[in-house]
Amino acid sequence: LRALKRIIQLGAVGAVGYASYVVYQNRHPTEQKQFDPSKRTIVLLGTGWGAVSFLKKLNTDDFNVIIVSPRNYFLFTPLLPSCTVGTIELRSIMEPIRFITRHKSRNVKFYESECTDIDPESKTISITDVSDIKGAVSNTTIPYDYLVVAIGADNQTFGMAGVREHACFLKEIWDAQKIRTRLMDCVESAGFASQTPEEVSRLLHMVVVGGGPTGVEYAAELHDFLKDDLQIWYPELVDKLRITLVEALPNVLPMFSSQLIQYTERTFKQNNIEVLTKTMVKEVADKEIKVMDANKNMVSIPYGLLVWATGNCPRPLARKLMARLKEGGQSSPRGLLIDEYMRVAGAQDMYAIGDCTFTKYAPTAQVATQQGLYLASVFANLARIERGENRKISPFEYTHQGSLAYIGSDRAIADLPFLNGNVSVGGVATYVFWRSVYISNMFSFRNRFLVVGDWVKSRIFGRDVSRE
Ligand code: FAD
Ligand code: NAI
Repeated sequence: LRALKRIIQLGAVGAVGYASYVVYQNRHPTEQKQFDPSKRTIVLLGTGWGAVSFLKKLNTDDFNVIIVSPRNYFLFTPLLPSCTVGTIELRSIMEPIRFITRHKSRNVKFYESECTDIDPESKTISITDVSDIKGAVSNTTIPYDYLVVAIGADNQTFGMAGVREHACFLKEIWDAQKIRTRLMDCVESAGFASQTPEEVSRLLHMVVVGGGPTGVEYAAELHDFLKDDLQIWYPELVDKLRITLVEALPNVLPMFSSQLIQYTERTFKQNNIEVLTKTMVKEVADKEIKVMDANKNMVSIPYGLLVWATGNCPRPLARKLMARLKEGGQSSPRGLLIDEYMRVAGAQDMYAIGDCTFTKYAPTAQVATQQGLYLASVFANLARIERGENRKISPFEYTHQGSLAYIGSDRAIADLPFLNGNVSVGGVATYVFWRSVYISNMFSFRNRFLVVGDWVKSRIFGRDVSRE
């Protein structure tokens, strides 16, 4: 027993020592090599899953790198739904891009700006500072030797009027912030002196459009917030708060096995989340949506908060590039076409990864990450070829590591590949697994520390119900 105690003590000292070393290393980056005009320059568009995975693996001894993105941080999207109700704080899932670039062997330039145009002929891009504060120069053009497009995708609205004005999306940090504020605003306005019963019912009706994983995880988080926190602090209103999920298809989560779809729908039923399947939103106004229900009747649904999660569509920049490269083979309206080496069809020295592309894979962080890592090895090979070594690289192959989603009440679902087959599991143990997978997939020790801290904090003190 004494020996076991000693091993545990040594283990704890070792873990603390290692954590201190990692923290020290992160805070004290070493000297970096400077830009080398004799090396080729890669311009990387984006700071999301694809771009950051690529950057982390890329050997900057071989290339100069310039990053262009309107966001000077990486966002860990899988935990974004948890930020809409305050289970996790926003900054805990953001990693400043400088924390990554400053640790590369060569200085990496970062321009916080949006790329507005790509000219494949002159191999230049146009960039614009889109932030509120600008200097004397806010538009310029920069040349590239290689371009990596990793700009992600836009929110799909199907061009429906009213969606951008009245609904909240759930893709970026400001979306989660807006949802959190609006939700509390709806609750407080419902509690306003002499509020009419119809308005109380409308204000407390939270409607989620889209039964994909984004919509399902948001509805699940909202339910937990209602049950764990709002119930205590707003006892007079909580019985009137309703959550409705609207989905056009016959079921939610089409990418999961039928067993897990049924398990999710059962869990939602137990949690009083109404799921309207075969129901398609047709019109969006400021206080109500009009849907075509399963019987093909048009029905009005009043709402207080509307969250829109109907998937992806190409960003304007990707559309512009696709139009320019149409002759070269860009024939899909759904995203940039690439080959199995990530090369953009119809362009020279241009690569694309992640949600901005249209491939046989789903637009997920898993795919974007693997493509980013693979692309770094393509560039390592280019550097070898430039040094005179002639080596071939095999085409990209995606390895699916499974699908996970949180469904509320400390339950998660997982479809995991296992021995050429598939294992479908759901429940509390899967929830523990879900948490451990996400924690281990985070890019930094700092983010892991902050997220675990937030989980502990919200368990002990509950979530914050103040309106920001
Ligand atoms: P992004 O990560 O979206 O990054 C795009 C980058 O490009 C951003 O930095 C953006 O600022 C930048 N950019 C945009 N326009 C321009 C421009 N004009 N010029 C320069 N830069 C530009 N996937 C999973 O596999 N598992 C999950 O659990 C999961 N959960 C999710 C939860 C939510 C709420 C959401 C919204 C998505 C989730 N996804 C998940 C999907 C995953 O987030 C995306 O597939 C992934 O982000 C795609 O990576 P990307 O690099 O292509 O794009
Ligand atoms: P999605 O494309 O997966 O789902 C959108 C849903 O909205 C579809 O089921 C569609 O039928 C429905 N829809 C479309 N128009 C509608 C309308 N007018 N009325 C009602 N319903 C309508 O989109 P989502 O959930 O945003 O996910 C995007 C990508 O990100 C996917 O590839 C997904 O796998 C990934 N993701 C993965 C997560 C995970 O693994 N846990 C979490 C979140 C996203």
